[in-house]
Amino acid sequence: MKHLLSIDDLSRDDVELVLDRAASFSEVANREIKKVPALRGRTVLTLFYEASTRTRSSFELAAKRLSADIVSFSAGGSSVEKGESLKDTVLTLAAHSPDAIVVRAPWAGTPQLVSQWTDAAIINAGDGKREHPTQALLDLFTMRQQLGADLEGRSVWIIGDVAHSRVARSLIRILVLTGVHVTVCGPPTLIPPDIGALGCDVTYDISGMSDADVVYTLRLQHERMTAAGLLPSLGEYAARYQVNAPRLSPNQVVMHPGPVNRGVEMSGEVVDSPQAVITMQVKAGVVVRMAVLYELLAGSRSDAAAKERALA
Ligand code: NCD
Repeated sequence: MKHLLSIDDLSRDDVELVLDRAASFSEVANREIKKVPALRGRTVLTLFYEASTRTRSSFELAAKRLSADIVSFSAGGSSVEKGESLKDTVLTLAAHSPDAIVVRAPWAGTPQLVSQWTDAAIINAGDGKREHPTQALLDLFTMRQQLGADLEGRSVWIIGDVAHSRVARSLIRILVLTGVHVTVCGPPTLIPPDIGALGCDVTYDISGMSDADVVYTLRLQHERMTAAGLLPSLGEYAARYQVNAPRLSPNQVVMHPGPVNRGVEMSGEVVDSPQAVITMQVKAGVVVRMAVLYELLAGSRSDAAAKERALA
């Protein structure tokens, strides 16, 4: 495995390998000194053209806990503001010889493009509406923590703005790959007509949600809603699709990738309830991203590890 651009790059065995590795890193996260020398001397670059709180901080922490050096780039405050292109920015930063580049951009396909301009391992941290594979891995990790390692036959409902969600596109793929039954639910204007091709069921009626093991709520992505009139109003959306206490059964696990619009897609009461595992997802993000960095740069299936063995 050279890059992580899409969940389609992973076999079921690869997913197991990454999640097992993440579980072993959880032990490190519980130590007083939360650092191992696994990637000492390696350089990780984060290249972010879009806002991020969770993804960026957890990638940075993951790299640091593996003892890698980290260089952080965000488009705001850089020469991008002087008109530098994506290609020139990548070529400039690639001159620092990073071993891995973590890329987030509003344009679908950016990580693939970047992979053509550098030898570094590329990790997709979100490309437009397309994919966000490490989020899917950390969500699967969190579901296993809650429900046990075998999720075969379990049911996950993904509710909300599927149309603009890279999180949904990666999550549906990984859940289908691991034998989980997925239903997506939302207003017809926010459900892409071809989404069922990924192997999920589609419904516009939230009433069946109470049978799901996991209720996964998506943010309404105002910044990507270019077509006007997708929703009559936020109030009407909340009335029909909000994940709130009256709609939930007591044992359901409630998830959200963050950031949450409290009172819109999810009630504040549910966000703050023990049923919601949103901060556990954030915690899982660090160990899962440690595992991804490790597998790409030093794991048995990485190109870098093969090269090192050849030179030994
Ligand atoms: C998401 C993203 O940016 O794709 N957040 C995240 O990475 N945890 C989801 C969102 O912005 O709604």
